Amino acid sequence: DRGNYRHFMAKEIHEQPEVMSRTLGQYLDFTTGRTALPAQLPFDWKTLDRISISACGTAYYAGLVAKYWFERLARISVDIDVASEFRYREAPLPQNGLAIFVSQSGETADTLASLRYCKAQGQAIAAVVNVTTSTIAREADVVLPTMAGPEIGVASTKAFTCQLSTLACLAVAAGRARGVLTDADEQALVSALAEIPRLAAQALRLEPQIERLAKTIAKARDVLYLGRGTSYPLALEGALKLKEISYIHAEGYAAGELKHGPIALIDETMPVVVIAPHDRVFDKTVSNMQEVAARGGRIILITDAAGAEAATVDAVETIVLPAMPATVTPMIYAIPVQLLAYHTAVIMGTDVDQPRNLAKSVTVE
Ligand code: M6R
Repeated sequence: DRGNYRHFMAKEIHEQPEVMSRTLGQYLDFTTGRTALPAQLPFDWKTLDRISISACGTAYYAGLVAKYWFERLARISVDIDVASEFRYREAPLPQNGLAIFVSQSGETADTLASLRYCKAQGQAIAAVVNVTTSTIAREADVVLPTMAGPEIGVASTKAFTCQLSTLACLAVAAGRARGVLTDADEQALVSALAEIPRLAAQALRLEPQIERLAKTIAKARDVLYLGRGTSYPLALEGALKLKEISYIHAEGYAAGELKHGPIALIDETMPVVVIAPHDRVFDKTVSNMQEVAARGGRIILITDAAGAEAATVDAVETIVLPAMPATVTPMIYAIPVQLLAYHTAVIMGTDVDQPRNLAKSVTVE
């Protein structure tokens, strides 16, 4: 039931404060300010040699954000690949390895095949899935459910931010168990994560501005998305979301890769969406924006008040989100990115919930 929404996608975007709150409640104990993972994990964080993550599409981008978290917060190296590559790569896997599979449906053929490969190689298997009765959930050693509820729109939105929420809790738990984070660090991160539902609700209030901005995007032939650090996977996600539902060509790039090729595309007709919270890599992203501006590219900057103030470039539009700790930015910055794709698709008149050529669950390779 779509309720008062025109599309399931819109409804699912708007459900995010609530479903992320439910998901975080599953993995955090707000009374103690600690993470609360299932008691019996089929591996020991302290002796883990490496984590391998495999997934497809949007779920892969959630995994890519998690790589930054696990490496930074828990000092575990993470190998991540799209499942269709991973399954045929014959990757050598470590003795004490954890393999994480991220999937909304839990039925994606390539992700399942990667799981079976890792199992045969003696890895501990964790599944971050939305459908807990799925094959991937059944075959995993531990299931970490995302509590997004049924996702009907083919474009993944709330499943993505719930995957991120789950993976963030996992990375914080790993960091604490490995002694990289102190009790105080853990508590600070848990309080930051607890703010997500409120911040997500604030991000949704930017919808009228984004709806107006979508008119500009709808006129473009190509759109470039840039980001650094954990905003890089969001740039990839923004581009995927736009192509999948509006059929406008889009590319996501790590901002630093701009001068290694894509900068040649930039002219006055090219919108460049820059995802840049005022974090430790912000200044680097500003220099990339200057390169875009110098070539007449039309910058759409998604940032916070400090970023808007410090960005010394002319953006055609600046979307200003509230300030927040770096660990929570991916879950919140996803929202304007989703809304931009959604409203562009509505203007283009495409079938938003059932885009052409796509299936909700890809059960063949
Ligand atoms: O069910 P899964 O999460 O395994 O599906 C993975 C991808 O097929 C999925 O995320 C796809 O990329 C979406 N249509 C993106 O919006």
